[in-house]
Amino acid sequence: MSMRLPFFNSKQTQDEIIIDNIPDHVAIIMDGNGRWASKKGLPRIAGHKEGMDVVQRIVRAAVKYQVKILTLYAFSTENWKRPKLEVDFLMRLPKEFLHIYLPQLMENNVKINTIGEFNSLPDHTKKAIQYAKEKTKNNDGLLLNFAINYGSRYEMVRAMKHIISDVESGKIDKESLDENTLTKYLYTKDLQDPDLLIRTSGEQRLSNFLLWQLAYSEFWFTDTLWPDFNEEIFKQALCDYQSRKRRYGGI
Ligand code: FPP
Repeated sequence: MSMRLPFFNSKQTQDEIIIDNIPDHVAIIMDGNGRWASKKGLPRIAGHKEGMDVVQRIVRAAVKYQVKILTLYAFSTENWKRPKLEVDFLMRLPKEFLHIYLPQLMENNVKINTIGEFNSLPDHTKKAIQYAKEKTKNNDGLLLNFAINYGSRYEMVRAMKHIISDVESGKIDKESLDENTLTKYLYTKDLQDPDLLIRTSGEQRLSNFLLWQLAYSEFWFTDTLWPDFNEEIFKQALCDYQSRKRRYGGI
């Protein structure tokens, strides 16, 4: 029998969450901050600021619904092309987010992780994230995984270079190379693949996000702009996931 969350009454059907069929790993492309701000006549960075607060609300929802891993696309390797002011603002957001929310993350047993080219981030960004990683390292609840300075094609090329070097040094045997080998050389080596990908703002593309890891994930799109995204819409995505039949190429 399925265990249901206590705060849903038994009459709920359409939006009912069955807690034993929650996706373990949810990945989100948080899109639409700029459009949200423009619509309100605000600078784009106002959308990112609002988006930061939405991150915390969705983290709380993910904890509540017992998601195990939440991967958020916070900054892509292509985002460096944006105006300096916007890039600088985005690079300050992790520090601001952690300054405000780290105590709540600790209370909720959340562990911080990142994927992406960490070393090329500004020192202040690295320092804030490293501090949070250290502080949360023994937490064993939700893994909050920020994809920051992340690009999937770069990740695969980087993995290939490491594999070639390990083949050349004799650490691994060329004949033993298979799909698992590449998986083990990606930033996500310690994580299971996402079960569910959510993208906000009406765009329906992957934008160089987890191309290898999303091979068998379920996709869910909403027109809602990220700053307007909320727990209710997150719940709809989880409920929709629960109605899907995953066949992984089988029947
Ligand atoms: C895409 O929207 C969003 C981003 C490139 C940045 C996402 C960042 C956040 C939501 C805040 C992250 C918070 C932390 C804690 C790191 P867009 O700017 O491309 O929007 P647009 O398509 O409407 O222009």
